[in-house]
Amino acid sequence: MSGRVVVFGATGYTGRLTVGSLVERGAQATIAGRDEDRLRTLAAKLGGTRTAVADVARPATVRALVDRGDVLVSTVGPFTRLGDPAVAAAIEAGAWYLDSTGEPPFVRRVFEDFGPRAEAAGTALVTAFGYDFVPGNLAGALVLREAGEQATRVEVGYFSLGGPGALRGAASRGTRASLAGVALEPMFAWRDGIREERAAARMRSFHVHGRPREALSIGGSEHFALPRLFPGLREVDVYLGWFGTATRALHTASRVSPLLARVPGVRAGLRAAGERAMRRPGRDPDPAAGARVGTYAVAAAFDGSGTQLGEVHLSGGDPYELTGHLLAWGAVRAAAGDLPGTGALGPVEAFGLNELEAACAEAGLIRSR
Ligand SMILES: NC(=O)c1ccc[n+]([C@@H]2O[C@H](COP(=O)([O-])OP(=O)(O)OC[C@H]3O[C@@H](n4cnc5c(N)ncnc54)[C@H](OP(=O)(O)O)[C@@H]3O)[C@@H](O)[C@H]2O)c1
Repeated sequence: MSGRVVVFGATGYTGRLTVGSLVERGAQATIAGRDEDRLRTLAAKLGGTRTAVADVARPATVRALVDRGDVLVSTVGPFTRLGDPAVAAAIEAGAWYLDSTGEPPFVRRVFEDFGPRAEAAGTALVTAFGYDFVPGNLAGALVLREAGEQATRVEVGYFSLGGPGALRGAASRGTRASLAGVALEPMFAWRDGIREERAAARMRSFHVHGRPREALSIGGSEHFALPRLFPGLREVDVYLGWFGTATRALHTASRVSPLLARVPGVRAGLRAAGERAMRRPGRDPDPAAGARVGTYAVAAAFDGSGTQLGEVHLSGGDPYELTGHLLAWGAVRAAAGDLPGTGALGPVEAFGLNELEAACAEAGLIRSR
C-alpha cells in the first residue's frame, strides 16, 4: 500500500466494521472521529492504532486528516447533513474518497457537483460503496453484459429476506437518522438523463426466491453509473422492496408527499427527528437481525420493445457486514493506486466488473440462481 487509509466515523457501527475488516486484511488505518475518548478506547482494543480527532462542524479538522494519495473513507452520516466536509477535504487534498452513504440526494450531489471538482483535482470519489448501492450496480452490470447491445432498460430491486418484522432491530442510529433526513427529498430516475421523480412514484413486482414481491422506486447510484458503462441504456430504475403489505399504501401516499413536504414544519420536523436520533447514545443493531434481513438484489434487462432479456439475482448476509467488507476492500485497492480514473466513479467503473464480483463473493454476496 502506498497512501494511508483514514476511516472517518470509525467510532460508529459501520466505521468499526470497516476498521475490523481492514485489520483482518492486515492493512494499517488511522481511525478518525469527533470524540477523543471513544477513539482512544477503540484504538486500545485494536492494539494501538493511530487516531485523529475531526468534527464536521470544524471543516479544517477534517481537511487535516488526509494528504495527496491517501484514502479517506467516510461513514459519518446522515450524509445530506454531515457529508460535505469529508468529500471537500478529499478533493482539496487530492485524496481518494469512499463513503457508506445510502442517501440518494447525496449520491446525486457527489456525481453532479463534487465529481467535476474531483476530476479537476485529479482524484476519484466512490460514493455509496456499501449495501446501498453496490449489489444493484453489480447485478445490473452483470445482466447488461449478458443481455448485449439490445438492452435499453434496466430495473433493479433491493429486498429484505426473513419476512415481516425482520427489519426490527436491524437499523443503526445512523441509518435511522439518514432515513428521516431523506424521506421527503426529491428523488430521480434515468430517462436519457437524470429526471426528477418523487420517491415511490413507481411500483413493480420482482420474483424473490420464486415469489412475487412488490417494490417502490427510489434514487440510487445505478442511475448515474450504469449508463456510463452501457451507453445504449435509455431507462434505469431502482426499487426498494422492504415494505411488505404497506407497499401499495406507500405508493398511493407518495402522490401527496410532495405536498406534505411543503406543509410548514414537516420537513423541519423530520430533520429534527434525525438530529435527535444522532444525539441519543447509539445502540448497535443486532447482528442476528442483520443476518435475517440479509442482502438480496435483482436486476432485469429489457430491449426497446419491452421484452425481458435476462435477470441476475444476488444474495448475501448482513447489509452492515457487507458494507464494512466492501469499504475496507475498496480502500486497500485505492491506497494501492488501483483506481483507474478521476471524478465520481460508479462501483464497477472504479474497480472493474470481475474484480467487484469477486470482492462481493468474498463478502458473501453471490448469484442466487
Ligand atoms: N449504504 C449503506 O448500505 C449503508 C450501510 C451502513 C451505514 N450506512 C450509512 O452510514 C452512516 C453511518 O452509519 P452507522 O451505522 O455507522 O451509524 P452510527 O453508528 O450512528 O455512526 C455515525 C458516525 O458518525 C459520527 N458523527 C456524527 N456526527 C459527527 C460529527 N459532527 N463529526 C464527526 N463525526 C460525526 C459518529 O460519531 P460518534 O461515535 O462520536 O457519535 C459516528 O462515528 C449513516 O448515514 C448510514 O445511513 C449506509
